[in-house]
Amino acid sequence: MPRIATSSISKHRNFPKIMPQKKAIITGITGQDGSYLSELLLEKGYKIYGIQRRASLPNTYRVDHLYDNVEDPNFNMMYGDLSDSSNLVRVINAVKPDEIYNLAAQSHVQISFDKPEYTVNVNALGPLRILETIRNLQLPIRYYQASSSEMFGKVLEIPQNESTPFNPRSPYGLSKVFAFYITKIFRDAYNIFASNGILFNHESPRRGFNFVTRKITLGLARVKLGLIDKISLGNLESQRDWGHSKDYVEAIWKILQHHEPDDFVVGTGDTHSVREFVEEAAKNLGIEIEWQGTGLDEKGVDKKTGKVLVDVDPIFFRPTEVAFLQSDSKKARAALNWEPRIDFKELARIMVEADLQYAEEEARSHRPIVTQKRYNINGSKRKPL
Ligand code: NAP
Ligand code: GDD
Repeated sequence: MPRIATSSISKHRNFPKIMPQKKAIITGITGQDGSYLSELLLEKGYKIYGIQRRASLPNTYRVDHLYDNVEDPNFNMMYGDLSDSSNLVRVINAVKPDEIYNLAAQSHVQISFDKPEYTVNVNALGPLRILETIRNLQLPIRYYQASSSEMFGKVLEIPQNESTPFNPRSPYGLSKVFAFYITKIFRDAYNIFASNGILFNHESPRRGFNFVTRKITLGLARVKLGLIDKISLGNLESQRDWGHSKDYVEAIWKILQHHEPDDFVVGTGDTHSVREFVEEAAKNLGIEIEWQGTGLDEKGVDKKTGKVLVDVDPIFFRPTEVAFLQSDSKKARAALNWEPRIDFKELARIMVEADLQYAEEEARSHRPIVTQKRYNINGSKRKPL
């Protein structure tokens, strides 16, 4: 399993002296945000219960550093799945948490076109299953729903804030719209403290390998060390408002500490294209990219050597695309006193630095630490996503 980029979490977790210790369930704890949120809540003195789904190979490498000490009573993992109501009822009833952070999802937009029914089951019905459990148990549990800027889809307004209409462009986006509204409906109908964070894209050295930023930073680090010749991408025009996951989990926590349940847009407000992310990542490796050609023939060329380092492969195009996202997070900044600390350039720098270490390890061991292939329908074409 790949090594995880850990941050410096305090060995001495400070427990509040007067307040009783809070208990939180985190679904999706093994994911990017789940791991950073776990660190934050442990630092704040919470007792956490992560819901881990069964996998045929270990899927806990992002949180393994948190339970080095298996005796730690504040870090607990339980098996569960968002597609399994009876399990969710049992876990929530056993823990009786103060807060539930629902981060679990089939979170890859392109894969949601391949697995639409599964995506809707987990991303839309999963939240409903949790909310129904909270409703039936009649416990004062605060619920956080991981909503997404992907819900704005083909944007109807620039920038996007809490009153911008949704216009989803993928099964993933639509599943998140259902989850957003069911959260709001349960809040209004049953007086449940249920809030949505509408988070724009956020990345980190713990990002999944098949999201575009990570694919670029790890890919170009491998190119730099001569492990591969080039990377292939899809839509280079696409623009995203990219921030760092560590900043965003702070907003997630603040949303549940707010005096009332509400919905908040969380983002940097700064938008860049995939092409610009490639340029920035390359710069951190001492490479200047020059773009040549257009459309499917566009290439990112190393200005110094003339070598093609990036090309375009239509296998990575989506059936329908979200071309542009830019947040207006004034509400969260004012009401939650939140703002991002890591900007676009710093994000690219942090990710490249971490992935260069990965690639160096790969070079030393003569084998890739992580591989991810995409197969087409007859399995004949293999490409890293
Ligand atoms: P991620 O790295 O893909 O993590 C997703 C987590 O959900 C993983 O722990 C995964 O488990 C778990 N999961 C998937 N299917 C499950 C199921 N059926 N039952 C239980 N757990 C399941 O995603 P992320 O980037 O941390 O994002 C966290 C949440 O925020 C997701 O809901 C995502 O849709 C949403 N969001 C993300 C962004 C972003 O830019 N990162 C922006 C807006 C919203 P495995 O580890 O076993 O796969
Ligand atoms: N994954 C991927 N791979 N995306 C590519 C590639 C490629 O090779 N080439 C270009 N792109 C483009 C995609 O078409 C998309 O427009 C953009 O890069 C970002 O893609 P992803 O990094 O896969 O993220 P996403 O924006 O589709 O979804 C992420 O952000 C959402 C919030 O807006 C995910 O984290 C979602 O879970 C999240 O809700």
